[in-house]
Amino acid sequence: MLVQTIAWITSLFFMILVVAVFAVVAWKSRERKDYAPIKKKWYKARTFYGAALIALMLVLTIYTLRELPYNQPVYGAGNEPTVVDVQAVQFGWNISENEFKVGEPVEFHVTSKDVNHGFGIYDEEMNMIAQTQAMPDYTNKVFITFDEPGTYEILCLEYCGLAHHLMTADITVTE
Ligand code: CUA
Repeated sequence: MLVQTIAWITSLFFMILVVAVFAVVAWKSRERKDYAPIKKKWYKARTFYGAALIALMLVLTIYTLRELPYNQPVYGAGNEPTVVDVQAVQFGWNISENEFKVGEPVEFHVTSKDVNHGFGIYDEEMNMIAQTQAMPDYTNKVFITFDEPGTYEILCLEYCGLAHHLMTADITVTE
C-alpha cells in the first residue's frame, strides 16, 4: 500500500511544518520590534506571494483542463468498447453483461432507478480499481480494460438504505 504510505508521510511532514511555524511565531512574539518596517517588508512579500500563486494556479488550471474529460479513452478503429448498462436499484445491480476478456475495452454506463448509490469495482484483493456515482436520471461512465483475469466484485459505495451491504455483484474476466 505504497500510496497510503506516501500520503501518511506527506501528511506527517506538513503537520510537523505547521507545528514548527506555530512554535517559531510563539517564540518570536516575545521580542519587541518596531512595527512599520516589518509591515512594509511583509506587505511586499505578500504581493509577490499572491502574484506567484495566481501565476502557478493559472498554469495548473490550463494544464489540467486540457485533459477534460478526464479518463476518456480514444479507441482505435476496430477496437470499439463493450458498452455495459448498469442500473443500481435498492438493493442490487442490473448489469447487462458481466463476463469480459482481458484486454477488452469496457464502458460501464451507470445509472440508478431510485436513490444515489456508488458503483465500485474491486479486484480479488479488495483493492478498488474504479468507481463512479450511480444517480437517478444521470448516466456516469466508467472506462476500464481489465488486465488480469479473475472474479471482480461490485460493491455499493453510498449508504442507500437498510440492505446497502447486500448490494454486491460479480464480474468474471477470462484470458
Ligand atoms: Cu446502494 Cu448502498
